[in-house]
Amino acid sequence: MDVFGTMPDGRRVQRYTLFNEQGSLVRLISYGATVTELHVRDRAGKVEDVVLGFDSLESYLEKSPYFGCTTGRVANRIAQGRFTLEGVQYQLAANNGPHHLHGGLKGLDKVLWNSQPIHGTEGPGVRFQYQSPDGEEGYPGNLTITVEYTLSHRNELRIEYTAVTDKVTPVNLTHHSYFNLGGRGCKDILGHVLIVLASQYTDFDSTLIPTGKFASVGGGPFDFLLPQPIGARIGEAPGGYDLNYVVSHHPDHRKLSRQAELYEPQSGRVMTVESTEPGLQFYSGNFLDGTLTGKYGVVYGKHSGLCLESQHFPDSVNHPEFPSTILEPGKTYHQLTIYRFSTR
Ligand code: GLA
Repeated sequence: MDVFGTMPDGRRVQRYTLFNEQGSLVRLISYGATVTELHVRDRAGKVEDVVLGFDSLESYLEKSPYFGCTTGRVANRIAQGRFTLEGVQYQLAANNGPHHLHGGLKGLDKVLWNSQPIHGTEGPGVRFQYQSPDGEEGYPGNLTITVEYTLSHRNELRIEYTAVTDKVTPVNLTHHSYFNLGGRGCKDILGHVLIVLASQYTDFDSTLIPTGKFASVGGGPFDFLLPQPIGARIGEAPGGYDLNYVVSHHPDHRKLSRQAELYEPQSGRVMTVESTEPGLQFYSGNFLDGTLTGKYGVVYGKHSGLCLESQHFPDSVNHPEFPSTILEPGKTYHQLTIYRFSTR
């Protein structure tokens, strides 16, 4: 453990470095419960960093487009930042046009978490905890959130989340790493080959809010049921890919299931995504535009990384037909997502 930087109020941001028996390494910081580096082998055994990020805390504080962080309390969008629960209307910040995105102006990605190392049988880990006070960012209830990262000896980054509340409140947590399996020399992710195990997505309007309809991928540019290079049809997706796949419709979906596989042909690196979540947001780094310079002096242009965010569907709090994101007192929110690395 070392100190990554100091918050404007003087609190220290801790950094943890975890190693596993496969030669992988992950670095995590307590600001945003964030992954800053993730090094894994290619098919020739060369270890490289496969996530986007910054060298300094200042860059994370000033300009991070959610690199590697934990997002919430409600990840993704809530239409107009508004919802009604038990007859009470709540108005959250609009930080994405008219909508609420990733927990608001100061979401979980922008707070300092308590942290401690953990030593499970699977591999080394870090437990982050944060108490979000009642009313924070407009959300009801005191919410206690725990995120545990483990770098397993089977070469998985396991992320397990729990949360408890004292008032009924929506919760939807996810992980926001931007992956580029080609490493720092790989300009963009357009040559990565993707599989997404979903035949439907939540149909969305021009502001990325679900219309409430389920649309079929049906051989169109959103169809990744069979492996497709991301660049093959990205021109047909408005601005690039930024959509929620319906991996499961089941209202009580809890089973860990495979959602996606990503393969980078040059390096041979493969990443599979498994999760207990019913949805998977695939975001192809559309808003990166060359204005951010990250680790190793790399300039992040459009599509230089991609996110595969296991979560509940966007705006679920306003769609009773979607699997519920409502957490009640006495119940525990739980989600597990596993990113597994190998080569081929
Ligand atoms: C998510 C959203 C995108 C974008 C990124 C952060 O993936 O779906 O629209 O907001 O986060 O830039």
